[in-house]
Amino acid sequence: METLTTYENILTNLDNGILTIAINRESKLNALTLQTLQEIRNAVVLAQSNEAVKGIILTGSGTKAFAAGADISEFAHFTEDQATRMSADGHDVMNTIENSEKPVIAAVNGFALGGGCELAMCCHMRIASENAKFGQPEVNLGVPPGYGGTQRMIQLVGKGKAIELLLTADSIDANTALQLGLVNHVVPQEMLMAKCNEILSKIATKSPVAVGKVIKCVNDFFRPNVNGMQREIYEFGEAFVTEDFKEGTEAFLNKRKPNFSGK
Ligand code: COA
Repeated sequence: METLTTYENILTNLDNGILTIAINRESKLNALTLQTLQEIRNAVVLAQSNEAVKGIILTGSGTKAFAAGADISEFAHFTEDQATRMSADGHDVMNTIENSEKPVIAAVNGFALGGGCELAMCCHMRIASENAKFGQPEVNLGVPPGYGGTQRMIQLVGKGKAIELLLTADSIDANTALQLGLVNHVVPQEMLMAKCNEILSKIATKSPVAVGKVIKCVNDFFRPNVNGMQREIYEFGEAFVTEDFKEGTEAFLNKRKPNFSGK
């Protein structure tokens, strides 16, 4: 076990190749201050160049909340300019997570509301504990979602259900989120971290080069003016000059398990 660095609002822990980032504002249901989001961003950026990190779990401290949204007490008196900056910076954080070439799983251990739901949605997968609750209650506050919720909710559950959730501000439970495709698995809370670790440990045996390329190609499906098919052709060709490709094919032909370097 190794602590990478210290932060005020998050805890980080690297264990067996998996970096866990836990939002650590339990008494405020892990509400996301601007600084908290920057700390998460910083931890994810640092992880990209840390060869010891094979995957990332993002979660909330305690058993009640993943994150109950952006911190309302912080933004309640923002000007238009401050609010626009808040949203743009938040988008940058969410995009950084989404574009991480190391897989990021949200371990949703309770409320994932507003910015908390948006934070979960920018991760590559979401595993929920049975008590998790998802929703975008921003219309109750007089704003639309500001951290990508209107876009990523459509990507995950389709326009019809997305617009219902966004307009009614209804919260949904973990099993409903599973039915809608908003989460990948629902497990008892005590199994949550084990399930996330199991998935990331499996991915850690694969080629890091190929894993990063899959993430890029999948993300490009949703980028306007970018052709995902062309991206796939490019990434496929480029993979052939990597050590991972040499190792993976040689291991197969020699009937042994590959040992990827990620280069
Ligand atoms: N921003 C700031 N503080 C928040 C917060 C948020 N998004 N969500 C919860 N908190 C704080 C509460 O103010 C409270 O702080 P206090 O003890 O100093 O008064 C603490 O976290 C516990 O929350 P509380 O409301 O007492 O818990 P609860 O179990 O009664 O209700 C929720 C839980 C999630 C239903 C409720 O906290 C809530 O509606 N939160 C806001 C959700 C939201 O609108 N998010 C979108 C923001 S854009």
